[in-house]
Amino acid sequence: MALRSTWKSLYIDGHWIKSRKETFESKNPANGATLATFVKGTEEDVIRAIDTAEKAFPKWKHFPAPKRGEILLRAAEILRERKEELGTLVTKEMGKIVSEGRGEVQEAIDFFEYISGEGRRLLGETTPSELPNKFCMTVRQPIGVVGCITPWNFPFAVPCWKLGAALISGNTIVYKPATLTPLCAAKLMEIFEQAGLPPGVLNMVTGPADTVGRAIVDHPKIKAVSFTGGVEAGREIYSRASKLLKRVGLELGSKNPQIIMDDANLDLAIEGARFGAFGTAGQRCTATSRLIVQERVYEQIMRELLSKTKNLKIGDPLNPSVDVGPVSSEEQQNKILNYIQLGVEEGAKLMCGGKKLTGGQYEHGFFIEPTIFEAKHGIRITKEEIFGPVLCVIKSRDYDEAVQIANDVEYGLSSSIYTNDINTAWRAIDDLEAGITYINAPTIGAEVHLPFGGIKDTGNGAREAGTTAIHEFTEIKTVFVDYSGKLQKAQIQG
Ligand code: UN1
Repeated sequence: MALRSTWKSLYIDGHWIKSRKETFESKNPANGATLATFVKGTEEDVIRAIDTAEKAFPKWKHFPAPKRGEILLRAAEILRERKEELGTLVTKEMGKIVSEGRGEVQEAIDFFEYISGEGRRLLGETTPSELPNKFCMTVRQPIGVVGCITPWNFPFAVPCWKLGAALISGNTIVYKPATLTPLCAAKLMEIFEQAGLPPGVLNMVTGPADTVGRAIVDHPKIKAVSFTGGVEAGREIYSRASKLLKRVGLELGSKNPQIIMDDANLDLAIEGARFGAFGTAGQRCTATSRLIVQERVYEQIMRELLSKTKNLKIGDPLNPSVDVGPVSSEEQQNKILNYIQLGVEEGAKLMCGGKKLTGGQYEHGFFIEPTIFEAKHGIRITKEEIFGPVLCVIKSRDYDEAVQIANDVEYGLSSSIYTNDINTAWRAIDDLEAGITYINAPTIGAEVHLPFGGIKDTGNGAREAGTTAIHEFTEIKTVFVDYSGKLQKAQIQG
């Protein structure tokens, strides 16, 4: 590959570094147009970014947290002013429809506004001592230089969750954005710079996981890694980082169920399923990929869901009347099509969709028809993450069987139940094995002031956003202040 020089790939110490290296292109998945060219960063680039972040750390750590919050608030203002432009960019680079592109920028704004206030909290605890004239408390401190590695499906919101939480906590950062969406990441760097973030506090290196990602994860000066992405990459990162006893926050795959009980508002439940399964072309960690329906209402739900799904308009995601845009890349498209083929081979009944769209407006993009299978629980397409517009509808006898099916997967991020029986709803809150449960709402659409994360193979216990956002990025120091003027001995002195 030819070596070319580009200038929005390596953001180190507040500068865009020129470098001649192998390049890769960011392309619009709706039409194949090249949006920009980026360099493939190297291990040396990562080391340079780490050293810069390390130098910037002491000053940033001591920069008052409320002032750190002011910078995030300014970043939120800039995002708000540029919401239309950036929402459109998300759509062009990632392919989600433009209302969702704007929504994603809004999610970033919401989070920055929320987390900026954390600068005036970063709460610890105070508690009495067992000894007189002694005071006990905890304070939160930043971890140091942290690595943030983010996915392509939310190229603004997810980076903002991670970077915002790491920054307010006083860490400095080396950031690797997804290779499919580096342009959104470059814009975010510009916004932080404009908001007044001091140079060196946030550094970005674009490039592939096996060089840039690996160099971040393996470097001993990186004290914590926050990663959102696939489960295999997550396992690899966790095991590599564990050798250096690093803190790791993981948000990985899922196989989110929506249960429909026969007492539910069925129209609402169908609307929810359609949005949960086909919103963002199914490319959310929270997407509904299993619809578990009680047998008494099964036929009706299937009939109406099919007719509503067939009405979905697929096409240019910038066109406001379009419901479903392309999937993010050819690789994703092939992976999804392989799963569809597998479903057919496994004996699931293809009820609608299933094909790649070609010709005309679809010719140079990666479009897949919204696809519905009638499936028996247990085959691979009912258990593995597909990350595309594919929904498995599964029949269940009763509540107990529905919950048993819902829980019989390795993942546990989001879950939903539609019911008008208040007791069933509360039981489901207890019973569904997931980090998030919705009652009478789809599995997608979490709000930023609440913790976000999952159980089982979805993660390792970390929760992003909400009051828990800072847990991933702070150390707790326990402090004892003895003002007795004498040696006091805990546990020993009567
Ligand atoms: C993701 O897919 O990784 O709850 C994040 C939602 C969004 C965030 C999804 N607010 O669907």
